[in-house]
Amino acid sequence: MDDIAPIAKGAEAEIYATHFLGRDALVKVRSPKRYRVSGLDSEIRSFRTKNEARLIREARRAGVRTPVIYDIDLEKFSITMENIRGTKIKDKLEQNPSSATDICVMIGEAAADLHNSGICHGDLTTSNMILTEDGKICLIDFSMGKTNAELEDMGVDMHLLKRSFVSAHPDLSEAFSRLMKSYTETKNEPEKLLRKIEEIEGRGRYT
Ligand SMILES: Nc1ncnc2c1ncn2[C@@H]1O[C@H](COP(=O)(O)OP(=O)(O)OP(=O)(O)O)[C@@H](O)[C@H]1O
Ligand SMILES: [Mg+2]
Repeated sequence: MDDIAPIAKGAEAEIYATHFLGRDALVKVRSPKRYRVSGLDSEIRSFRTKNEARLIREARRAGVRTPVIYDIDLEKFSITMENIRGTKIKDKLEQNPSSATDICVMIGEAAADLHNSGICHGDLTTSNMILTEDGKICLIDFSMGKTNAELEDMGVDMHLLKRSFVSAHPDLSEAFSRLMKSYTETKNEPEKLLRKIEEIEGRGRYT
């Protein structure tokens, strides 16, 4: 594995381009946070690293496109994974809004497939989705996800997704309705979930 410069830096992690057994790969490293007590900080980084790798694999088993995990290093709090070639959905929707409907149909299906398998993503936004070169949606950044997710967790996923659309893509409300339609068509027992989302939205209005 040869280290190169970081290609992305988020709130909790840095992403570096690398190679793994000759394959094009990325390594996601969770850096220490000084504002956390050191023992607790290691625990959180370790939990999120393991959780993310586990959820990425579980999601793939559920038929949702996610990066292949090549390696986990709990001393470095890092995950080496497949480098997904493509465009971040957030950028794609900004650059090419006419592609929004087709993309939103795929996002709705991917979210429903995930939820039908009892998995919630935990940070379902258009920044955590990549449109692959072969035109599929790949989900990334599962560190806040859960298996055995409850209705509440799934409702929060969809609520956050809606909020991320309203703030990042305010002109795409029709495409978002299309997303919810394809979600509802794919999701088992969608009525319960739709009621839960309304309840969550209601809470937001009165707090
Ligand atoms: N497997 C991957 N293939 C291609 N690009 C990726 C991959 N993983 C991450 N990226 C790129 O790096 C960016 C940051 O990655 P990610 O969303 O996983 O981290 P983060 O938001 O910093 O993490 P966290 O929220 O867990 O602290 C992504 O928005 C994406 O552009
Ligand atoms: Mg992210």
